[in-house]
Amino acid sequence: MTNTNGKGKVIAIDGPAGSGKSTVARALAQRMGFDYLDTGALYRAAALKLVSAGVSEDSGDDAVLCSVLRGTTIEFKQGMVYLDNKDVSEEIRTPEVGHFSSVFSARKPVRDFLLDIQRNVGGTNGSGGIVAEGRDMATVVFPEAWRKFYITADEQTRAQRRYAQLRKKNADVTLSTAQSDVASRDDRDTKRSIAPLAKAPGAIEIDTTNLSIEETLERIMRELY
Ligand code: DC
Repeated sequence: MTNTNGKGKVIAIDGPAGSGKSTVARALAQRMGFDYLDTGALYRAAALKLVSAGVSEDSGDDAVLCSVLRGTTIEFKQGMVYLDNKDVSEEIRTPEVGHFSSVFSARKPVRDFLLDIQRNVGGTNGSGGIVAEGRDMATVVFPEAWRKFYITADEQTRAQRRYAQLRKKNADVTLSTAQSDVASRDDRDTKRSIAPLAKAPGAIEIDTTNLSIEETLERIMRELY
């Protein structure tokens, strides 16, 4: 089934932190000639905005979140992420912003604000479709997606991948902090009441614990047609 709002074919990919879904989704988009939508980047940018505005992670006041987000712009331009017209592509990749993105992503004003952005982005450059990657692509944002995948890996493997990724960026991280980060993100992202991370009905599950990026990509390609 193709998406009806002008996006062409939507490939929805969900999965937990460190499952390899971002790398695979980016490579898949390139191979298919599709746009790539990294929705985690949107949650990270929104969290950065809230933290910069002084909103504390345990602020229970939805009105405060709404007022900070009102008028905020988050855009992708040539693979970079712009928050209020400023390039924040690097800034949103720190472990701190990762933590806050998971915390604030449980809040309704944040999810409502980003829902429209996600549905409106992509598919505008005449490509055949988009590869949309996140936690609720197949369950909430694009339930009519052409193909749905749920990418996972065991917790230890995901922690190791997250650790390697952050080390490459010289982040101040140890394997044990990466392990506890992955565990607490899993817990928060799967247990929140709105749009929790879950495998959508009909989604194809791929466990990447013992698969390379290339092997995972091949598995996905085999399932497409
Ligand atoms: O994929 P990521 O690590 O960049 O995502 C950061 C956080 O954003 C993640 O812990 C949960 C949240 N998120 C979400 O709730 N829904 C999405 N579609 C994507 C990300």
